[in-house]
Amino acid sequence: MLFNPKVFSQRAFSQKARKKINVGIIGGAGYGGTELIRILIFHPNVNLKFVTSRKYAGLKVSSVNRFLEGLIDLKYIEPDISIFPEPIDLIFFATPHKTSMEMVPRLVREIPEVSIIDLSGDYRLKNPDEYETYYGSKHSSPELLENFVYGIPELNRDKIRRARYIANPGCFATGIIFALYPLLKEGLIKSPVTVVAVTGSSGSGDVPKEVTHHPMRAKNFKAYKILEHQHLPEIKQFIRERCGVDELEMGFIPQSGPFVRGIFTTAVAFNPGLSQEEVLEAVNRHYRGLKFVRVVNGSPEVVMVYGTNYVEVSYRYRDGFIVGMSAIDNLVRGASGQAIQNMNIMFGFEETAGIWFPGMKP
Ligand SMILES: NC(=O)c1ccc[n+]([C@@H]2O[C@H](COP(=O)([O-])OP(=O)(O)OC[C@H]3O[C@@H](n4cnc5c(N)ncnc54)[C@H](OP(=O)(O)O)[C@@H]3O)[C@@H](O)[C@H]2O)c1
Repeated sequence: MLFNPKVFSQRAFSQKARKKINVGIIGGAGYGGTELIRILIFHPNVNLKFVTSRKYAGLKVSSVNRFLEGLIDLKYIEPDISIFPEPIDLIFFATPHKTSMEMVPRLVREIPEVSIIDLSGDYRLKNPDEYETYYGSKHSSPELLENFVYGIPELNRDKIRRARYIANPGCFATGIIFALYPLLKEGLIKSPVTVVAVTGSSGSGDVPKEVTHHPMRAKNFKAYKILEHQHLPEIKQFIRERCGVDELEMGFIPQSGPFVRGIFTTAVAFNPGLSQEEVLEAVNRHYRGLKFVRVVNGSPEVVMVYGTNYVEVSYRYRDGFIVGMSAIDNLVRGASGQAIQNMNIMFGFEETAGIWFPGMKP
């Protein structure tokens, strides 16, 4: 076991006392990494020390992203541990799967005091066989899986507070867990659940592929990875741990919609004998007072959470059918904003620091 809670709590205390931590980003030129930069440069407790990109190493971050002109002085560096400036307190991985599991063992060995938040799927699943099934390659550092805490802040805060290593949830998984959590926690769902969730094109990252190319996406709407998306096992694992549902029976149909940011989730189950009031009371017991979770009447809307860390949820019950819906911004709540919220909790900062801003209208 690499994690020593005593050492970590002393360290967390001293971090809190000096109020600023040194942070690096591996994979800082993609959509998730750029979103991390956009938020972290205004974070009151963060000194952003390095950002990596193999493609842009040596170039100024602001010349690659001109919307950051005048806001950041760093140049991209290679993702090479031996050149990372020290001391460093926290490293975010915003890289495709397989990258962090290759780099983390060396990081842990050579910078044992560093904290890690991984936005990829590499450390989300406790069972390395499931990783192989859903990600198509053997896990190369399974001995570290137990040290990572699943970082869905409002629903796993106590573990996150004590964690050194965080596996940030997948974007679909975040939307689906928020839509279903209070219903499953309160035992209101007894049937299999059908989930349909629609994502915008930024969910596929910044490397163009035929299926993500604008002419093929702009006016299109389609399903993909039907009943076999890689976020299924992390949802089931979390629900097993936090809601005591041993094997959630869930069919998940991911869809891609003609918009850039956002995920809209609809989950449907059947339980005769409930009422709309009972469902809403259960939801409110878990979500009332949470700053980033908005329980709305009618439908959640992606435009209301666009560019923000908010989650909108809504619930409807009629004729035995329970419908739970959610809307998130995949790059903020589904990735970087949620990662920064996890950082805030880990380091004892104000939980909303750096991510407390509203959406926009329209
Ligand atoms: N997009 C979303 O909505 C979203 C939401 C939640 C989670 N995620 C997850 O977050 C991660 C990043 O997603 P993204 O959409 O930001 O992807 P992306 O746009 O494709 O960016 C990936 C970044 O990783 C770097 N990279 C690629 N291979 C690397 C390697 N072998 N070593 C070091 N750096 C490497 C790339 O830069 P260079 O090639 O220049 O080094 C780039 O900066 C993925 O695991 C994704 O599944 C994404």
